[in-house]
Amino acid sequence: MIMDDISRQVANLPDHAPRGNPIITMKNVVVAYGDQVALWNINLDILEGEYLGIIGPNGSGKTTLFKVILGLKAMNNGSIQILGQSLHGDAGNLLKGASWKDKIAYVPQRFTIDRNFPARVWDIVRMGRAPSHKVFSRFTREDKEQVMRCLEVVGMENFSNRPIGHLSGGQQQKVLIAKALAKEPDILLLDEPTSALDFKIAQDLIDLLGRLHEKEKLTIIEINHNLRLLRDNCERLVILNKTIEWIGDPNDPKADEKINEIFFHQ
Ligand SMILES: Nc1ncnc2c1ncn2[C@@H]1O[C@H](COP(=O)(O)OP(=O)(O)OP(=O)(O)O)[C@@H](O)[C@H]1O
Ligand SMILES: [Mg+2]
Repeated sequence: MIMDDISRQVANLPDHAPRGNPIITMKNVVVAYGDQVALWNINLDILEGEYLGIIGPNGSGKTTLFKVILGLKAMNNGSIQILGQSLHGDAGNLLKGASWKDKIAYVPQRFTIDRNFPARVWDIVRMGRAPSHKVFSRFTREDKEQVMRCLEVVGMENFSNRPIGHLSGGQQQKVLIAKALAKEPDILLLDEPTSALDFKIAQDLIDLLGRLHEKEKLTIIEINHNLRLLRDNCERLVILNKTIEWIGDPNDPKADEKINEIFFHQ
């Protein structure tokens, strides 16, 4: 057995999962809010180009895991390596590590956009082009073309002049995904992207993410409470309950057993 196959077995990777290098490596990560532990001893390799799903009960630390990756929440212990940069368990490092933030795009869990919010769809997506370290920057022709391309990718090109507050929740969700894509990220983090959407729009969005993953070879990490939707795209599934309870092929029956145990028999 060649080395690659051995390491794939250790990482519990299904045969169809991509053979990439780790793009994020978390070692013994512990995170607490005051004296309340939110994440305990997380050890996880996320591979370049993979589509990773995360499922877990409310309060199980899913969003906190994203905040750590985004450098928004300091670790109490452990280390994380992202795109070759290392961070350790202190807040000072979060600030110093700013350069990788432009490579990660994030679609947050909840958003409410005021009906009267004075921005057009175009302006929102264009914000994705502004590097995080520059408040005022000039937008080039390339930026403009990229904004339009991203609106086309999510099928919202005909809405570019609409005020964002006048769109439905599903349409706003698509605009926020276009904004994330406009950043041309290496890693896309999606925190419950379908939670506000009806069945049809949710399925359309999942199909869109699957196509994007295939075409752009983006590394995608998606938190979702809907296992069926996760199974559509994810190559590996993490079941999180403060710590990683299980990781493997989302279609493995053991995933159902574990989810049943955690959600219904605690
Ligand atoms: N800013 C905060 N201050 C204090 N405690 C927090 C804070 N954010 C999260 N927590 C706590 O940390 C734990 C994990 O929260 P987190 O938001 O990561 O969970 P989650 O898995 O994303 O839940 P959900 O499915 O409801 O979105 C919870 O017990 C929560 O109460
Ligand atoms: Mg959450």
